[in-house]
Amino acid sequence: LYRKVTPTTEPTFLLLGPSGGGKTAFLTLTERNVVASTHTSTAPQTIEATLPDGFTPNSSHYRSPGDPAYERSRRFLLVDTPGHGKLRRFATTQLVKPTNVRGIVFVVDAASVAEDAGLNETAEYLHDVLMALQKRYTGAKTSKGPKDIPVLIAANKLDLFTALPPHLVKLQLEKAISEVRTNRAKGLRDSGVAMGGEDDGLDEEREWLGEGGEGSFEFAQMEEVGISVTIKGGNVIGTEGVDTAGWYEWIAEQL
Ligand code: GTP
Ligand code: MG
Repeated sequence: LYRKVTPTTEPTFLLLGPSGGGKTAFLTLTERNVVASTHTSTAPQTIEATLPDGFTPNSSHYRSPGDPAYERSRRFLLVDTPGHGKLRRFATTQLVKPTNVRGIVFVVDAASVAEDAGLNETAEYLHDVLMALQKRYTGAKTSKGPKDIPVLIAANKLDLFTALPPHLVKLQLEKAISEVRTNRAKGLRDSGVAMGGEDDGLDEEREWLGEGGEGSFEFAQMEEVGISVTIKGGNVIGTEGVDTAGWYEWIAEQL
Protein backbone atom coordinates (compact mmCIF):
# COMPACT_ATOMS: atom_id res chain seq x y z
CA LEU A 1 0.00 0.00 0.00
CA TYR A 2 1.05 3.55 -0.59
CA ARG A 3 1.82 5.68 2.34
CA LYS A 4 -0.18 8.83 1.99
CA VAL A 5 2.09 11.84 1.86
CA THR A 6 0.38 14.66 3.62
CA PRO A 7 1.48 18.19 2.83
CA THR A 8 2.43 20.29 5.79
CA THR A 9 -0.87 21.67 6.90
CA GLU A 10 0.15 22.35 10.44
CA PRO A 11 -1.70 25.32 11.87
CA THR A 12 0.40 28.44 11.64
CA PHE A 13 0.58 31.46 13.90
CA LEU A 14 2.15 34.67 12.63
CA LEU A 15 4.11 36.94 14.94
CA LEU A 16 3.65 40.54 13.83
CA GLY A 17 4.24 43.91 15.45
CA PRO A 18 6.73 46.79 15.49
CA SER A 19 10.44 46.36 16.07
CA GLY A 20 11.49 45.69 19.65
CA GLY A 21 8.14 44.36 20.84
CA GLY A 22 9.53 40.96 21.78
CA LYS A 23 8.50 38.67 18.89
CA THR A 24 11.82 36.85 18.61
CA ALA A 25 12.13 36.61 22.39
CA PHE A 26 8.73 34.88 22.49
CA LEU A 27 9.67 32.60 19.58
CA THR A 28 12.89 31.57 21.31
CA LEU A 29 11.10 30.93 24.57
CA THR A 30 8.51 28.77 22.79
CA GLU A 31 11.15 26.82 20.88
CA ARG A 32 13.73 26.20 23.57
CA ASN A 33 11.98 27.13 26.80
CA VAL A 34 14.84 29.47 27.62
CA VAL A 35 15.00 33.21 27.80
CA ALA A 36 17.69 34.20 25.35
CA SER A 37 18.98 37.55 24.18
CA THR A 38 17.90 38.60 20.70
CA HIS A 39 18.96 40.89 17.90
CA THR A 40 16.62 42.85 15.68
CA SER A 41 15.36 40.51 12.96
CA THR A 42 16.09 41.04 9.28
CA ALA A 43 14.34 37.96 7.90
CA PRO A 44 11.36 35.83 8.81
CA GLN A 45 11.92 32.58 10.60
CA THR A 46 9.65 29.60 11.16
CA ILE A 47 9.85 27.07 13.96
CA GLU A 48 7.92 23.93 14.80
CA ALA A 49 6.47 24.27 18.24
CA THR A 50 4.51 22.20 20.74
CA LEU A 51 1.97 23.72 23.07
CA PRO A 52 3.51 23.61 26.57
CA ASP A 53 2.19 21.12 29.14
CA GLY A 54 -0.84 22.37 30.99
CA PHE A 55 -2.57 23.86 27.93
CA THR A 56 -5.20 21.82 26.10
CA PRO A 57 -5.92 22.39 22.41
CA ASN A 58 -9.56 23.30 21.88
CA SER A 59 -10.03 20.31 19.54
CA SER A 60 -8.69 17.86 22.13
CA HIS A 61 -10.76 18.51 25.22
CA TYR A 62 -12.21 15.00 25.06
CA ARG A 63 -8.91 13.28 24.37
CA SER A 64 -6.36 12.23 26.93
CA PRO A 65 -2.66 13.09 26.99
CA GLY A 66 -0.67 10.30 25.37
CA ASP A 67 -3.33 9.72 22.70
CA PRO A 68 -1.47 10.27 19.37
CA ALA A 69 -4.24 12.56 18.12
CA TYR A 70 -3.89 14.65 21.25
CA GLU A 71 -0.14 14.96 20.82
CA ARG A 72 -0.55 15.87 17.15
CA SER A 73 -3.06 18.59 17.97
CA ARG A 74 -0.50 20.31 20.20
CA ARG A 75 1.82 20.99 17.29
CA PHE A 76 1.89 24.23 15.36
CA LEU A 77 4.21 26.46 13.35
CA LEU A 78 5.27 29.82 14.68
CA VAL A 79 6.46 32.40 12.15
CA ASP A 80 8.58 35.33 13.33
CA THR A 81 8.73 38.43 11.12
CA PRO A 82 10.95 41.52 11.20
CA GLY A 83 9.13 44.50 12.68
CA HIS A 84 11.25 47.23 11.16
CA GLY A 85 9.20 49.45 8.84
CA LYS A 86 11.39 48.75 5.84
CA LEU A 87 11.23 45.00 6.28
CA ARG A 88 7.51 44.61 6.77
CA ARG A 89 6.97 43.30 3.27
CA PHE A 90 7.86 39.88 4.69
CA ALA A 91 4.93 40.15 7.01
CA THR A 92 2.54 41.63 4.46
CA THR A 93 3.32 38.89 1.93
CA GLN A 94 2.15 36.38 4.50
CA LEU A 95 -1.08 38.32 4.91
CA VAL A 96 -1.95 38.55 1.22
CA LYS A 97 -2.22 34.81 0.83
CA PRO A 98 -2.28 33.30 4.27
CA THR A 99 -2.01 29.53 4.08
CA ASN A 100 -3.01 27.66 7.17
CA VAL A 101 -2.79 30.81 9.23
CA ARG A 102 -4.81 30.00 12.33
CA GLY A 103 -4.12 33.23 14.10
CA ILE A 104 -2.04 36.38 14.37
CA VAL A 105 -0.13 37.32 17.49
CA PHE A 106 0.57 41.05 17.34
CA VAL A 107 3.28 41.72 19.92
CA VAL A 108 3.30 45.16 21.50
CA ASP A 109 5.78 46.75 23.90
CA ALA A 110 3.35 47.93 26.59
CA ALA A 111 5.89 50.46 27.84
CA SER A 112 6.58 52.01 24.43
CA VAL A 113 2.87 52.63 23.78
CA ALA A 114 2.84 54.89 26.83
CA GLU A 115 4.68 57.41 24.61
CA ASP A 116 3.25 59.06 21.50
CA ALA A 117 5.92 57.90 19.06
CA GLY A 118 5.66 54.25 20.08
CA LEU A 119 1.88 54.41 20.23
CA ASN A 120 1.54 55.92 16.75
CA GLU A 121 3.91 53.48 15.11
CA THR A 122 2.15 50.55 16.73
CA ALA A 123 -1.30 51.87 15.81
CA GLU A 124 -0.33 52.39 12.16
CA TYR A 125 1.04 48.90 11.80
CA LEU A 126 -1.94 47.34 13.57
CA HIS A 127 -4.36 49.41 11.48
CA ASP A 128 -2.75 48.08 8.30
CA VAL A 129 -2.82 44.48 9.49
CA LEU A 130 -6.52 44.72 10.40
CA MET A 131 -7.22 46.47 7.09
CA ALA A 132 -5.55 43.63 5.18
CA LEU A 133 -7.70 41.11 7.07
CA GLN A 134 -10.83 43.19 6.46
CA LYS A 135 -10.12 43.36 2.71
CA ARG A 136 -9.51 39.64 2.63
CA TYR A 137 -12.94 39.17 4.18
CA THR A 138 -14.92 41.68 2.11
CA GLY A 139 -13.13 40.69 -1.10
CA ALA A 140 -13.82 36.98 -0.70
CA LYS A 141 -15.48 35.50 -3.77
CA THR A 142 -17.25 32.55 -2.22
CA SER A 143 -20.40 33.10 -0.21
CA LYS A 144 -18.89 31.00 2.54
CA GLY A 145 -16.13 33.55 2.98
CA PRO A 146 -12.55 32.83 3.99
CA LYS A 147 -11.72 31.18 7.24
CA ASP A 148 -11.61 33.74 10.02
CA ILE A 149 -8.21 34.77 11.30
CA PRO A 150 -8.37 35.92 14.92
CA VAL A 151 -5.90 38.42 16.32
CA LEU A 152 -4.25 38.40 19.72
CA ILE A 153 -2.66 41.63 20.87
CA ALA A 154 0.09 40.46 23.22
CA ALA A 155 0.79 43.38 25.54
CA ASN A 156 4.37 42.44 26.38
CA LYS A 157 6.96 43.72 28.89
CA LEU A 158 4.52 44.05 31.78
CA ASP A 159 7.52 43.50 34.06
CA LEU A 160 8.57 47.10 33.34
CA PHE A 161 7.07 49.63 35.71
CA THR A 162 6.52 52.03 32.81
CA ALA A 163 4.30 49.49 31.04
CA LEU A 164 0.59 50.28 30.64
CA PRO A 165 -1.83 47.62 31.91
CA PRO A 166 -3.55 45.67 29.07
CA HIS A 167 -6.91 47.49 29.32
CA LEU A 168 -5.12 50.83 28.86
CA VAL A 169 -3.02 49.46 26.00
CA LYS A 170 -6.33 48.56 24.37
CA LEU A 171 -7.91 51.98 24.92
CA GLN A 172 -4.81 53.84 23.76
CA LEU A 173 -4.57 51.73 20.62
CA GLU A 174 -8.25 52.22 19.82
CA LYS A 175 -7.84 55.97 20.17
CA ALA A 176 -4.70 56.06 18.04
CA ILE A 177 -6.21 53.79 15.36
CA SER A 178 -9.22 56.16 15.17
CA GLU A 179 -6.77 58.88 14.22
CA VAL A 180 -4.89 56.73 11.72
CA ARG A 181 -8.21 55.84 10.13
CA THR A 182 -9.24 59.49 9.78
CA ASN A 183 -5.83 60.54 8.46
CA ARG A 184 -5.74 57.75 5.89
CA ALA A 185 -9.21 58.67 4.60
CA LYS A 186 -8.22 62.32 4.43
CA GLY A 187 -5.01 61.39 2.60
CA LEU A 188 -7.01 59.49 0.01
CA ARG A 189 -9.38 62.40 -0.53
CA ASP A 190 -6.54 64.91 -0.80
CA SER A 191 -4.66 62.77 -3.29
CA GLY A 192 -7.81 62.66 -5.42
CA VAL A 193 -8.11 58.89 -5.30
CA ALA A 194 -11.67 59.13 -4.08
CA MET A 195 -12.74 62.05 -6.29
CA GLY A 196 -15.17 62.27 -9.23
CA GLY A 197 -17.29 59.33 -10.27
CA GLU A 198 -20.29 57.72 -8.73
CA ASP A 199 -18.72 55.12 -6.52
CA ASP A 200 -16.75 57.53 -4.35
CA GLY A 201 -18.53 56.35 -1.27
CA LEU A 202 -17.77 52.75 -2.06
CA ASP A 203 -14.06 53.34 -2.50
CA GLU A 204 -13.89 55.22 0.71
CA GLU A 205 -15.83 52.52 2.48
CA ARG A 206 -13.35 49.95 1.32
CA GLU A 207 -10.48 51.91 2.83
CA TRP A 208 -12.26 52.51 6.10
CA LEU A 209 -11.48 50.18 8.96
CA GLY A 210 -14.42 48.85 10.95
CA GLU A 211 -17.83 50.51 11.03
CA GLY A 212 -18.65 53.25 8.56
CA GLY A 213 -19.44 55.96 11.09
CA GLU A 214 -17.27 58.90 12.04
CA GLY A 215 -17.15 57.84 15.68
CA SER A 216 -14.17 56.30 17.37
CA PHE A 217 -12.70 52.98 16.45
CA GLU A 218 -13.20 49.98 18.68
CA PHE A 219 -11.71 46.54 18.20
CA ALA A 220 -15.21 45.08 18.66
CA GLN A 221 -16.14 46.62 15.28
CA MET A 222 -13.91 44.04 13.61
CA GLU A 223 -16.34 41.26 14.57
CA GLU A 224 -18.54 42.34 11.67
CA VAL A 225 -15.83 41.35 9.25
CA GLY A 226 -15.14 38.09 11.01
CA ILE A 227 -12.11 39.24 12.98
CA SER A 228 -12.01 38.75 16.71
CA VAL A 229 -9.44 40.85 18.52
CA THR A 230 -8.31 39.84 22.02
CA ILE A 231 -5.79 41.59 24.23
CA LYS A 232 -3.77 39.80 26.89
CA GLY A 233 -0.79 40.96 28.91
CA GLY A 234 2.40 39.13 29.72
CA ASN A 235 6.17 39.26 29.75
CA VAL A 236 8.81 37.10 28.11
CA ILE A 237 11.65 38.40 30.25
CA GLY A 238 11.66 39.66 33.80
CA THR A 239 13.37 39.41 37.14
CA GLU A 240 10.17 38.11 38.73
CA GLY A 241 9.80 35.36 36.16
CA VAL A 242 8.09 34.90 32.84
CA ASP A 243 4.35 35.17 32.20
CA THR A 244 3.14 33.95 28.83
CA ALA A 245 0.25 31.78 30.03
CA GLY A 246 -2.45 34.02 28.57
CA TRP A 247 -0.91 33.84 25.11
CA TYR A 248 -0.52 30.05 25.12
CA GLU A 249 -4.10 29.81 26.38
CA TRP A 250 -5.23 31.86 23.40
CA ILE A 251 -3.18 29.71 20.99
CA ALA A 252 -4.69 26.58 22.59
CA GLU A 253 -8.18 27.97 21.94
CA GLN A 254 -7.37 28.23 18.21
CA LEU A 255 -5.92 24.70 17.94
P1 GTP B 1 12.37 43.03 15.66
O1 GTP B 1 13.06 41.75 15.36
O2 GTP B 1 13.24 44.23 15.46
O3 GTP B 1 11.07 43.17 14.94
O4 GTP B 1 11.99 43.02 17.24
P2 GTP B 1 11.34 41.84 18.10
O5 GTP B 1 9.88 42.09 18.22
O6 GTP B 1 11.75 40.51 17.59
O7 GTP B 1 11.97 42.10 19.55
P3 GTP B 1 12.96 41.15 20.37
O8 GTP B 1 12.31 39.84 20.67
O9 GTP B 1 14.25 41.11 19.70
O10 GTP B 1 13.03 41.97 21.75
C1 GTP B 1 13.50 43.31 21.76
C2 GTP B 1 14.11 43.62 23.11
O11 GTP B 1 13.12 43.59 24.13
C3 GTP B 1 15.18 42.62 23.53
O12 GTP B 1 16.24 43.33 24.13
C4 GTP B 1 14.47 41.74 24.53
O13 GTP B 1 15.36 41.21 25.46
C5 GTP B 1 13.52 42.73 25.18
N1 GTP B 1 12.30 42.07 25.71
C6 GTP B 1 11.51 41.17 25.09
N2 GTP B 1 10.50 40.79 25.89
C7 GTP B 1 10.65 41.46 27.05
C8 GTP B 1 9.89 41.51 28.27
O14 GTP B 1 8.87 40.84 28.47
N3 GTP B 1 10.36 42.35 29.24
C9 GTP B 1 11.47 43.11 29.07
N4 GTP B 1 11.84 43.88 30.09
N5 GTP B 1 12.20 43.10 27.94
C10 GTP B 1 11.80 42.29 26.94
MG1 MG C 1 12.84 39.91 16.01
